[in-house]
Amino acid sequence: MANEIDVTRVQAAVGERWRIVYRREVDSTMTLARELAEQGAPAGSVVLADAQTAGRGRLGRSWVSEAGVNLYFTLILRPSLDLLRQLAMLTPLAVTEGIELAAGVTTAIKWPNDVQIGGRKVSGVLIDAEIRGDEAALALVGIGINVNFDPGSVPELREIATSIRAALGRSLAREAVLIAVLNRLAALLDACERGVSVREAWRARLTTLGREIALRAGDRIERGRAVDVSEDGGLVLEGADGVRRVFAAGEVTLSL
Ligand code: BTN
Repeated sequence: MANEIDVTRVQAAVGERWRIVYRREVDSTMTLARELAEQGAPAGSVVLADAQTAGRGRLGRSWVSEAGVNLYFTLILRPSLDLLRQLAMLTPLAVTEGIELAAGVTTAIKWPNDVQIGGRKVSGVLIDAEIRGDEAALALVGIGINVNFDPGSVPELREIATSIRAALGRSLAREAVLIAVLNRLAALLDACERGVSVREAWRARLTTLGREIALRAGDRIERGRAVDVSEDGGLVLEGADGVRRVFAAGEVTLSL
């Protein structure tokens, strides 16, 4: 069938490091990944779907998941607690690097983990983690990448989203993007396991630092200048009173 992802090609290119489980349509790859993880699916499983009927975004939002155009996948990982702390930085970093390698377009990261091209969102990351005691038991790392999507086709996304095709002016094989991103994820995960920190590389790609921003934290809006990021990726905001506060990625969303 035209426009199906060539999973055999992707699996051959990424080798045994990743084990791809493909479905044409799911409600959400996050849900299927959780079910498979509970049934014992190994770390390194990648749950990939051509379309999602109930794609999930951060902070309870939905994720537009049309068939035949984009990438929707969830990694099943069983990381150490140290690695888990780096995942919210490592994942968007791998996505930016993978997109740049596959497409040759310049990308940036909007804190904490939106990947942008030209100031518009091309990819989002959603991480569900389970911690038991002081061990990280499971991390489900969901990644959506707009590859050949027409952002103009969805009125609420027209002004804020983009796709690789919109940036390049031509379509790109989804397989090439997926292979590049999975290879960068493997390399960065291996580096972190050897004790390397991804914080500086992630920080260098943030568009957010040095800007006046508004953060939504629960039902409060916090305003100030984004001056730095903490060791584990929290945003350091300096208010008009000069007081600095750190906000964790999971709690807040940001508008520039
Ligand atoms: C965000 O809001 O920026 C995060 C979006 C994450 C979307 C991906 S698509 C694959 C995986 N399955 C989902 O339902 N969501 C994530």
